[in-house]
Amino acid sequence: MSEMTPTPPQYYQRHIFFCINQRTNGENCCADHGAQEAFAHCKALVKQRGLAGPGKIRVNKSGCLDRCAAGPVAVVYPEGVWYSYVDLQDIEEIVESHLVRGQIVERLLAPPELGR
Ligand code: FES
Repeated sequence: MSEMTPTPPQYYQRHIFFCINQRTNGENCCADHGAQEAFAHCKALVKQRGLAGPGKIRVNKSGCLDRCAAGPVAVVYPEGVWYSYVDLQDIEEIVESHLVRGQIVERLLAPPELGR
């Protein structure tokens, strides 16, 4: 059996990416479902609570994550948990439950079969 490579220390405790992709060809995209507002709300909440920064939480925008059918989507690492959110209350729940306490918000999990 080969030895596992040791995992380097993590720079952020948790990292959440919001797809904010905007399409102009009429195809479905996260930006048409409030993604920019959700990203901004999440970022503001994390900052307000003093949770932003190295060793803590980072909130980032992303281009298309290729899971548009589940959109709008956000993904949290290191767990690799995908969320489909609807409104800003959902974002608050993701922040309080997952980002702060490490508890996955089951009701907002993106359906695993949904891709692009
Ligand atoms: S447009 Fe958001 S995942 Fe593709």
